[in-house]
Amino acid sequence: MARVFVLNGVNLGALGTRRPEVYGTLTLGDIEGMLRERYSEVEFEFRQTDHEGEMVGFVREARESDGIVINPGAWTHYSYAIHDALDAVEEVPKVETHLSNVHGREPWRRHSVISPAVDAVVAGMGPYGYEAAVGYVLGRVAPGRKGQDR
Ligand code: DQA
Repeated sequence: MARVFVLNGVNLGALGTRRPEVYGTLTLGDIEGMLRERYSEVEFEFRQTDHEGEMVGFVREARESDGIVINPGAWTHYSYAIHDALDAVEEVPKVETHLSNVHGREPWRRHSVISPAVDAVVAGMGPYGYEAAVGYVLGRVAPGRKGQDR
């Protein structure tokens, strides 16, 4: 069974009530339920934190997993610590995921310090972006580990 970490950073615990016109009305719990239903064969580690150091710990923990889907929230735009934590995790497919289209909003959201440390970026697809990101990492599960080609 593939094990995938879905990590959500700062302020994402407020989904559902936070700027619904931008982020939609689903809560993080709804998104988790959606993923578990869509990918019932996957063992998910679904986490959220508002503390940067805790997120670094989650990323380290995901070293042994089959994939990381991370929405770093505002840390996307300035956290070298989270970049470095992700950069240190090799061999695991990693996707940076944003609910909103960060390229169509304030100019400061267009830059991600995280992107150089991941394999792919999803933005602007709403909750479906998480599904797409999980689909991508499952397609890249390392040969010899889960039997699929990288
Ligand atoms: C976000 C985009 C970030 O710019 C913002 O700070 C967030 C959420 C998104 O999912 O669209 O908190 O990562």
